[in-house]
Formats: sequence, structure tokens, C-alpha cells
Amino acid sequence: MRTYLVTGGAGFIGSNYIHYMFKKYDNEIRIINVDALTYAGNLENLKSVEDRENYTFVKADICDREAIEAVFAANDIDRVVHFAAESHVDRSIRNPEVFVRTNVLGTAVMLNCAKAAWELPDGSFKADKKFLHVSTDEVYGSLPEDDEAFFYETTPYAPHSPYAASKASSDMLVRAYMDTYRFPANITNCSNNYGPYQFPEKFIPLMINNALQGKPLPVYGDGKNVRDWLYVEDHAKAIDMVQEQGRLFETYNIGGHNEKQNIEILDIIIETLQGMLPAEDPRKALVSRDLITYVEDRKGHDRRYAIAPDKIKEQIGWYPETMFKEGIKKTIAWFFENEEWMKNATSGDYQKYYTEMYENK
Ligand code: NAD
Ligand code: TYD
Repeated sequence: MRTYLVTGGAGFIGSNYIHYMFKKYDNEIRIINVDALTYAGNLENLKSVEDRENYTFVKADICDREAIEAVFAANDIDRVVHFAAESHVDRSIRNPEVFVRTNVLGTAVMLNCAKAAWELPDGSFKADKKFLHVSTDEVYGSLPEDDEAFFYETTPYAPHSPYAASKASSDMLVRAYMDTYRFPANITNCSNNYGPYQFPEKFIPLMINNALQGKPLPVYGDGKNVRDWLYVEDHAKAIDMVQEQGRLFETYNIGGHNEKQNIEILDIIIETLQGMLPAEDPRKALVSRDLITYVEDRKGHDRRYAIAPDKIKEQIGWYPETMFKEGIKKTIAWFFENEEWMKNATSGDYQKYYTEMYENK
């Protein structure tokens, strides 16, 4: 039975990945989820798996070498899937240091502990051990908007935000481990994810939540920045396929083939909400384009991200299966069914964050 060490499994993508893996492999695998439970980590995301005998949660910080060593010492780990990170660009602009700590130092600790656990006396590694580092397309910088240019695995790194810079640094560390030690790893760089369990500081869940309450929908700048949206379950599938079928030591870009301007996304969200809310639901009258409010632009706001996921399609056969209109419906349906989740996520510290972030916009 393969044993997985998943970091950041209580976050958005990590929890979707854990659900995907148990759906696919059921009792054929064991998952140990290591998460520090920052503001973004939420064990409610994992309620339906927490009683499984083949699932264990360990509350630990990935920067805490002793804690991570202890997980490797107590378990024969076959796969590491490393999601844990500080993930929000706006927060990185306000407070870059925590991004360097978690994303760079934390990745160094994960690499070092895995290397120590898997290395043989002759410097080679035990058979069939693999580390997958989950990264972002933001490491490649920004593309021109009126161009057919795409990010490829060979695109030089040019990160702009402190978040992107910290992820680029972590990718470089993984590359250094592969180049120096032949450490068995892969890196995946994916585009913007959306779907269930996404924390409402990110564009899509924030807009859904605000629209349902008739609150302003704060669009940065002219609203024409482009992102390439990927449904999170498609991403989870890609990660598993890369780890099992990809070529070791290689990087794979994972994209949604779904480039849209922020304002286009917002129009689709409003239209979909209108279509899904029954006539008697009082929220129907609140959801409207009139809520769109253009606010001050994000500092250093990258104009366009777009991935051509050719390599992963050609080598592994993965492609994004979920069309945006279908994915956004599933996402909104999930938020309708999980109102408590949203209420809990937006209570307490979220209100403080929201006020500080948006009050001067
Ligand atoms: P998230 O913010 O929802 O979750 C991050 C998780 O990591 C949380 O559970 C948090 O508690 C945990 N964590 C944070 N610091 C930690 C630490 N020091 N020790 C242990 N755990 C810690 O993030 P996400 O959106 O799920 O992103 C997961 C990964 O995917 C990140 O590495 C991110 O850079 C990458 N990524 C995300 C997107 C996206 O659209 N969300 C796109 C590309 C890449
Ligand atoms: P976000 O979800 O933060 O992802 P990222 O910045 O990592 O791509 O933002 C997606 C896009 O939406 C980005 O162009 C910034 C924009 N945006 C807004 O216009 N308003 C908002 O309140 C937020 C959070 C984002």
C-alpha cells in the first residue's frame, strides 16, 4: 500500500486532492495530511474522510524540521505531494516575509527531510519514492494581452509579486535538489484554480459570496486582466497522473484552456447565480451587475496568464475536462449546499482582513 505525505491538505486544492485520491484509490492508499492550520486551513473541508483508517491528520508547520522528521521516521513515505504555502497575492504584497518563510524555508525543510529519509548510503534513492512540488504559473510573470503568447515549461522565470517570487524560489530549490542529488521529484505549475472549498479571499468565491449578500463586487483596475481558470478536480487528477505517469525530474504546466478577463468571469458568475436561484429566493433580487465596483488596481498587477498544456497532453494524456460554464455551476451549487462553510470561513478574522484590504480601495 502506497503511503502519501500531503502537505497543506486542509487548504483549498489540498483538500480537493485528498477527496479525489480517496475516491480513486479508496483503501489502496494511505494519506498523512500535514497542515499547520493557518487562516487558510480548514478541517471542515475533510469531515467526510476524517474517520477513515487510512487517513491521518498531523498538525505541524512545514518549517518545523523536527516535526517533519518525526513524520518520516514514523512512516515509510512513498509519495510527497507538497501543497502547503501562503497562497494569496494581495496578502504577499502586504506582508512578504511569511511567504518567504513558509514557501521557501518550508519547501527546503520538506526536501531535506524527504532526502534524508529516502537516500541510500551510496547517494542513490530507495526505489519508487517520489516528491511532487505544486507550484504556479505566476512564476513566469505576465504575458501581453493582445498576443497569442503562452507560458511553456521552457519560459524563463520572471516573477513579479512577492508570492510569485517565493514560489519561484521554492521551484528553484526543487530543481537544485534534482540537479545536485538526482532527487526523485516533479514540479507542476498550474493556472488559477476554482471550485469547492476555495477560501473567499480569492476572486471567484469572494464574488459569489458578496453577490449573494448584495455587497459591492470590487474589480481591480479596468477588470481586463486575464486568468486561465482550471477546475480544481481536473487539477487533482493532473497531479496524480504526473506523479504516476510523468517522467521523473520534469516540470509539467497544467492549464485550463480557459482564458477570460476578470470582468467576463464576473458576468458569467452573475448570470449563473441569476439562473440558479429560484424566483422566491430573496437573494435573487440582490444579485446584479449594478454591484460591480471598479476599485484601485493591485500593485504590480500581472496582466495576463495563459498556459498551453501541450506537454502534459502529449506525454501523459491529461487535458482539462471541465468547461468553465459547467465548473462554475458545480462550484455555485456547492456554495449553495454549504452555506455554513461560507459563514464559518467569513466570520472572525476574515472581516478584519476584508476591511483592511478593501476599505481604502
Ligand atoms: P490555500 O491557501 O487554500 O491552502 C494552503 C494550506 O497550507 C492551508 O491548509 C494552510 O493551513 C497550509 N499551510 C500554510 N502555511 C503552512 C505551514 N507553514 N506549514 C504547514 N501548512 C501550512 O492554498 P491553495 O489555493 O490550496 O494552494 C495550494 C498550492 O497550490 C500552493 O502551493 C499554491 O502556491 C499552489 N497554487 C494554487 C493556485 C490557486 O489557484 N489556488 C494556483 C496555482 C498554484
Ligand atoms: P486572485 O483570485 O487573487 O488570483 P491571482 O491574483 O493569484 O491570479 O485574483 C484573480 C484575478 O482577480 C486577479 O487579476 C486579481 C483580480 N481580483 C479582483 O479584481 N478583485 C478582487 O477582490 C480579487 C481578490 C481579485
